[in-house]
Amino acid sequence: MKKINLLSFLVLICLTSCSDSKKEETMTKKYVEEPHSFAKPNEAVVTHLNLDITVDFGTKQIKGTATYDINNNDASVIVLDTKFLEIHKVFADEKEVKFSLGSFNEQLGSALKIPIGVDTKTITVHYNTTEKTEALQWLTPQQTADKTHPFLFTQGQAILTRTWIPIQDSPQIRVTYNASVKVPNSLMAVMSAQNPKKKTTDGIYNFKMRQAISPYLIALSVGNIEYKAVSERTGIYAEKSLLEKAHQEFSDMEKMVSAAENLYGTYDWEQFDVIVLPPSFPFGGMENPRLTFATPTVIAGDKSLTSLIAHELAHSWSGNLVTNATWDDFWLNEGFTVYFELRIMEALYGKDRANMLALIGRQDLEEELEGFKDSPEDTKLKLNLKGRNPDDGMNSIAYDKGYLFLRTLEETVGRERFDTFLKNYFRSHAFSTMTTERFITYLNTNLLDKHQVTFNTEEWIYKAGIPKNQSKITSDRFRGVEKTLSEFIRKNKVDVDMTKDWTTQEWVHFVRNFPKEITTDQLTLIDNAFDLTNSNNSYIAMVWFEKAITYDYRGNNIDDNIEAFLTNVGRRWYVSTIFKAYKNSDKVAEAMAIYKKARPNYHSVTANTVDDILGYKAE
Ligand code: BES
Ligand code: ZN
Repeated sequence: MKKINLLSFLVLICLTSCSDSKKEETMTKKYVEEPHSFAKPNEAVVTHLNLDITVDFGTKQIKGTATYDINNNDASVIVLDTKFLEIHKVFADEKEVKFSLGSFNEQLGSALKIPIGVDTKTITVHYNTTEKTEALQWLTPQQTADKTHPFLFTQGQAILTRTWIPIQDSPQIRVTYNASVKVPNSLMAVMSAQNPKKKTTDGIYNFKMRQAISPYLIALSVGNIEYKAVSERTGIYAEKSLLEKAHQEFSDMEKMVSAAENLYGTYDWEQFDVIVLPPSFPFGGMENPRLTFATPTVIAGDKSLTSLIAHELAHSWSGNLVTNATWDDFWLNEGFTVYFELRIMEALYGKDRANMLALIGRQDLEEELEGFKDSPEDTKLKLNLKGRNPDDGMNSIAYDKGYLFLRTLEETVGRERFDTFLKNYFRSHAFSTMTTERFITYLNTNLLDKHQVTFNTEEWIYKAGIPKNQSKITSDRFRGVEKTLSEFIRKNKVDVDMTKDWTTQEWVHFVRNFPKEITTDQLTLIDNAFDLTNSNNSYIAMVWFEKAITYDYRGNNIDDNIEAFLTNVGRRWYVSTIFKAYKNSDKVAEAMAIYKKARPNYHSVTANTVDDILGYKAE
């Protein structure tokens, strides 16, 4: 009897202590496994950054200190990510400590290990960036719009912030920050923070970012820029010669913010500004909080490419407020953002416009699926990028398959229910991170089970390709375009009347759907009628150049225009589309001749992508 009692007593102790430690584990393990960061945030984590830096255009270096408030969960070391930085000295509170750098990994850089005590409150790293720093692009005056002053911008997403600030560079981390940035007197500095509207006389700028953000969203631009407000809380930064044009182009910014708030709840970042960067900026836009970074190639003169602003604005909810926990969950950022972007576009300009955009994305998706036909794994929404560059997952699958999933879901449950669900989703997870798995649980509880709807969520997220129950997107306008195109091919005659009120999206659809058997004579006819070779619209020009290369059209001195485009514009999506066209039509030598001239103008993320396409090896 006694024996049994003792035994059950022991079992009981084990049971309670086992379950206790389990409980503790789930309580303290707030952060999930992260393949693209050396940091161990469950052990010790940064909470606030104080950056004190000088931007030196002479040596092309940023140097200074990064001081962090930390939360130590009983660790003796805190680990930060660094890459291509020179670390001089490190302090724990006021005391200099002996740090160590882990071995260098081509993608991830080196772990910076800093010894700390249980009571350590802050750590300070003295450092400078180097020539290899990938986040920064230093531009000469010649590479800017005004051609009078140099320019600098940063690009942090996905894992480049560690190349200009030593930091725990995982999207699960959130920090508030202050920054003191010293720049040459003639230039203005702006960040993803509360920003100046005028230059200071001493070139010192003090920033405050009260809302906690992920490290990939810390951003800085320095140039001879000015500010012009669109509304009380929206406005434009640009070089003088671009400011008016940009201001007109983006005059609907306030309407976009209001429409977004009507859909999914308050805008939590106070200010929504856009800075128009020089044309080498590698993206269309980057959703840096409070200050979206944008390419000048969206200024078409007719507001036809402003869905980009709606997209970056939408990230203020999907991405910046509710953030993908790891880059494997990237679709949670981009798929939701495309969905939200098109809802904003629909609210402002109607269903026609939104559906044309959706169909362009649908075709992008089809082309991406074709490109991945030998690696179907890459067509799943939930990715496995361990050991790979997160850039590998940053393609149309996350954007357009993600969009199609959400649109299909909306059509299945009905818009009203879906909107309520999304609004609650953003509100209840504001300023936190989301994994795909947690999203599925939330979706089941708060939408599907609640309304007793069955849906093949797992198939959409964990299986390759596109499920059968996909939403069917149609557009009468695009049907018209297709009809005009097939009649042209049949009759060899251009009907200018049919195209006279086409929008940019209709032109893009027209060009992208040329049949394989289109002849150079037919391309000549089109160019003579519409002068696409000299189009001022960067999107139309880009798709036309792609087709010209593919079908060997050489009229109208198009080669000069293509070369000028590729050397001037560094937007990765545009230039990689054109370089892929050369590659796929066996014109690598021709492409290489242009690329040698263009490459010095590209930011590292664009150069890396094009290097891969053409098999270019830097000397
Ligand atoms: N966050 C992305 C840009 C990005 C993605 C940078 C992955 C680094 C890694 C941004 O919101 C975006 O999607 N930009 C698109 C614009 C868009 C309208 C789809 C772009 O740059 O083309
Ligand atoms: Zn995006």
